[in-house]
Amino acid sequence: MTRLSVNLNKIALIRNSRGANYPDLLKVAQDCERFGAQGITVHPRPDERHCKFSDLQPLKELCTTEFNIEGYPDEHFMQKVLAVQPHQCTLVPDAPNQLTSDHGWDTLLHFAFLQDKIARLKYAGIRVSLFIDPNDALIEKAAEAGADRIEFYTGPYAHHYPKNPEEAVSALRASCHTAIRCGLGINAGHDLNLENLRFLKEQLPQLDEVSIGHALICDAIYLGLENTIRLYLNRLQ
Ligand code: PXP
Repeated sequence: MTRLSVNLNKIALIRNSRGANYPDLLKVAQDCERFGAQGITVHPRPDERHCKFSDLQPLKELCTTEFNIEGYPDEHFMQKVLAVQPHQCTLVPDAPNQLTSDHGWDTLLHFAFLQDKIARLKYAGIRVSLFIDPNDALIEKAAEAGADRIEFYTGPYAHHYPKNPEEAVSALRASCHTAIRCGLGINAGHDLNLENLRFLKEQLPQLDEVSIGHALICDAIYLGLENTIRLYLNRLQ
């Protein structure tokens, strides 16, 4: 089974644009779960333009599925995550003002840094996933650093899918075997949508989780949140 974790950053972005608590992030999280989502993801960035660090504890208390916090592990982020204790923390190599995540970790270059963060999070009982490109050497090093899972950066897959689905997925498929050989669980995320998700799931049946935000929230404008979540779950069956 591949779990659908809904990334709520865009809901927080709309809320923050007016300064009031509308839409209510907690209510949307609760509704996503009620409509069938098997996880909630947020990605607090240093400027808090999306989710705020103060959203984390209330979300943790409310979530009945899996709560995943993504982000760059500077000391501020680490302290917040360690205090909140989500089920999973996904470490992402984002620069502070980055528009959105657009590459995975260089686990060779940042090995000692990641090893330290992973050990601290795991000591607190938090499962750790590393955002990563489909590259065998980087995946093997992620396992050596102690990660429980990897999250494949699927931006390039989504970009190439309309032109050539098979070419778009081949590197991810090969890297899945490497990840499994290394004992890693496999997540995926970025730019996944109703068009490209089913093929990804068919080609990577080993996927543990997909985290999807932007396209899902855009679809919900037209289709409604409940219907949209059902459609994404359908693509994962
Ligand atoms: N995974 C990571 C690490 C991300 O940074 C994001 C975007 O916040 C996503 C998944 C979700 O990407 P999208 O919003 O394109 O679905």
